[in-house]
Amino acid sequence: SHRKLFLLPGDGIGPEITEEFVKVISLLNDKASAGFEIERGLVGGAAYDAHGKAISDDDMARAMAADAVMFAAVGGPKWDNVAYDVRPEAGLLRLRKDLELFANLRPAICYAALAASSSLKPELVEGLDILIVRELTGGVYFGEPKEIIDLGNGQQRAIDTQVYDTYEIERIAAVAFELARTRDNRVCSMEKRNVMKSGLFWNQVVTRVHKEKFADVELSHMLADAGGMQLVRAPKQFDVIVTDNLFGDMLSDVAAMLTGSLGMLPSASLGAEDAVTGKRKAMYEPVHGSAPDIAGQGVANPLAMLASFAMCLRYSFNMIEEAEALDAAIAKVLDDGLRTGDIMAPGCRKVGTSEMGDAVVAA
Ligand code: NAI
Ligand code: MG
Repeated sequence: SHRKLFLLPGDGIGPEITEEFVKVISLLNDKASAGFEIERGLVGGAAYDAHGKAISDDDMARAMAADAVMFAAVGGPKWDNVAYDVRPEAGLLRLRKDLELFANLRPAICYAALAASSSLKPELVEGLDILIVRELTGGVYFGEPKEIIDLGNGQQRAIDTQVYDTYEIERIAAVAFELARTRDNRVCSMEKRNVMKSGLFWNQVVTRVHKEKFADVELSHMLADAGGMQLVRAPKQFDVIVTDNLFGDMLSDVAAMLTGSLGMLPSASLGAEDAVTGKRKAMYEPVHGSAPDIAGQGVANPLAMLASFAMCLRYSFNMIEEAEALDAAIAKVLDDGLRTGDIMAPGCRKVGTSEMGDAVVAA
């Protein structure tokens, strides 16, 4: 079988960490006849330098045609002053928009070996495995009107509008319930129904979708502010959390701090199911940026990129066994005491990007 992956290494440490997960692809192709085919494109500053755009139409078309896109990171001081619509981030935004990636999946997993470096007490986070499902294409970030107007009396007024249509909540809720079935079968929906019409509506639609199609999944509701509190007080109570764009932005960053390090956090963004093939467009990327401060030195942590590929195996290719093997290999190298600089701890052995990748492949 042919599995088409489109690689966008981007800028900074992006190309370095991409090489490490390509090693895992080679392993899967050699030892498990996985049949992955790789194409590479340019995004961000690298694309701008080559042809003056943050991503070309050609590469967009290749992203659309692939089974999954693996994106590393974009940006850096070199492109700080380029025009707004061709800045590195514009490439990422175009991918999200054109692939209609409406569901952003941010796992917060605390590896046993890293529990001590969490912002919380180790016993609160050890073994933590939660998944935040954030709506990514709607809500207050995109709703109209969105403007600053002059009131004429020396005052101005800023307006953002939270807008959600039925179908937008139905599809993100369905993704959350489907994912819960592959995990601990529990979903907690977060909104502010006490003060927002859109929160009340969110609650109603999630409740209906649950009743109609996912009654086997355990559903609870929490006000988003209380949810933030609970995430820090007792994070292990959660399995899947589903929430809107704004609350999801904040809550996923809160959850990130529970896990220890930025260099460890993967993410996935999923699009609509193709009516004919049933396949979802999808892009996988580490949460961290291009880390220009350490780029080109061979010291970047490749584990977030590798964990993102584990998500890709799981969600785009249903290769559950391989995904679990990769996740287990990441946990094992940490248990064995291997550390890149960003997660270095006393008594551990410091390794570079490529040695870390090799260790995961060996594991
Ligand atoms: P950053 O995530 O690139 O770096 C923050 C700090 O964490 C730095 O000290 C960096 O060395 C360290 N770090 C990040 N990833 C690491 C890894 N894998 N291994 C070891 N250390 C790691 O965020 P920052 O510095 O705010 O932004 C740098 C550039 O990246 C900017 O141009 C920014 O716009 C861009 N960026 C891109 C993102 C993306 O492509 N999705 C996301 C965030 C920022
Ligand atoms: Mg954020």
